[in-house]
Amino acid sequence: MSHLGQLPPAVGAPLPGPRAEGLVETLAKTECPAFTTRRARRSEQAGAPHDPIVWAEAQGANVVDADGNRFVDLTAGFGVAAIGHGHPRVVAAIEAQARRLLHALGDLHPSDVKIELLARLSALSPWDGGRVVLALGGADAVEAALKTAVLATGRPGVVAFEGGYHGLSHGPLAACGYSEAFRAPFRAQLNPHVTFAPFPRDGSLTEALSAVERAWPDEAPGAVLIEPLLGRGGVVLPPKGFLKGVGEIARRAGALLIVDEIFTGFGRTGARFRSVADGADPDLICVGKALGGGLPVSALLGRPEVMAAWGDPDGAALHTGTFFGNPVTSAAALAALDVLEDEGLAERALRVGTPFLTRLAELAPRHASIVDVRGVGLLAGIELESGELTLRIVRRLLERGYLTLPAGQNAEVLQVVPPLTIDPALLEAFVVALDEVLAAEGAR
Ligand SMILES: Cc1ncc(COP(=O)(O)O)c(C=O)c1O
Repeated sequence: MSHLGQLPPAVGAPLPGPRAEGLVETLAKTECPAFTTRRARRSEQAGAPHDPIVWAEAQGANVVDADGNRFVDLTAGFGVAAIGHGHPRVVAAIEAQARRLLHALGDLHPSDVKIELLARLSALSPWDGGRVVLALGGADAVEAALKTAVLATGRPGVVAFEGGYHGLSHGPLAACGYSEAFRAPFRAQLNPHVTFAPFPRDGSLTEALSAVERAWPDEAPGAVLIEPLLGRGGVVLPPKGFLKGVGEIARRAGALLIVDEIFTGFGRTGARFRSVADGADPDLICVGKALGGGLPVSALLGRPEVMAAWGDPDGAALHTGTFFGNPVTSAAALAALDVLEDEGLAERALRVGTPFLTRLAELAPRHASIVDVRGVGLLAGIELESGELTLRIVRRLLERGYLTLPAGQNAEVLQVVPPLTIDPALLEAFVVALDEVLAAEGAR
């Protein structure tokens, strides 16, 4: 008998099932109302229900909900499950660490396993003697990078990019080009020294770089914060060499280049760091998501000369957190890094992802609603004619057992981000399902 992990979908009607429905009712009464409101708005926008399924179990590329429906996860849980959900080596590492040591004294008296993770990440960084700040979520790593830039340059200014997403705590939120609505209510509390430059969608490298120069602020910035490609912003790939060029502009102006590899890092696009593979020479790199193998671990990796700015002569520890470098999450990260390497998942992302992108592109001439198909490795975006249509397609795919996400500033992109371990047969079955749901929506 086949085991959960690489099985095709098996979904019964209705969705959500009876058990999930009860749980969703509790959710609506207890969680922050923002999410229930958003579901209602999206449902209205799409003219289709938007109730969530409720996850109960996940293994490899499969998710099972509270009613026993089985899905194929083409979100990798927001990009976290690069090595698949519940990888046995990560689970074993967590169990062993949990029996030995659950919690230590952070930066004061750290655990052995935290030190091992610091050494591992330093060795994986692109610099000799790279320094590491461990944290929990992606936004934490970006916060640490922004603080580093202020310490190292003495300048509060940041150049960020339209459509960019770096998390929603106050530091990264100020640099969130993805949605003005996210920033607006909190504007008075946010860093006012942020300038947004256009993120190129198409066209020439020279034009893309001069647009950045034109947007450059008069007040010299301390940092340029950029994603190697817009992930949540709609799977937008800049022209080759763009990051390298942006880095050169930053360096000439005395600003640091912070690359946010939280979504792209550790193999999704076929390289450990997409920015470095693209020829860029970052000063600071933020990683998260895939790093923890399913547990919350993020990190700021930094060039040693730049990170030296933290070596405060008064000995003040300016940045720390109770749970940063927790022993269990550190053990999970070490195991996840082993799996990524031992299973050659960066190479696999290209080997499996390139033909998958070709198959998706073959759908374009068959459906007038497809505006564009783009991506790299196992990160694909299918831009559709409207956000409303994308939201309906996401729902129709869910009903067929495929978890996907809308992306882009108007939800106009169907984002497909499977675990890097996914069986290509599941991707091929998805292409057929997508072809059918697009045809059915086109015939409405
Ligand atoms: C590129 C990028 N940076 C930062 C973040 C924020 O990470 P977190 O939600 O863990 O704070 C995300 C999350 O989607 C991301 O895609």
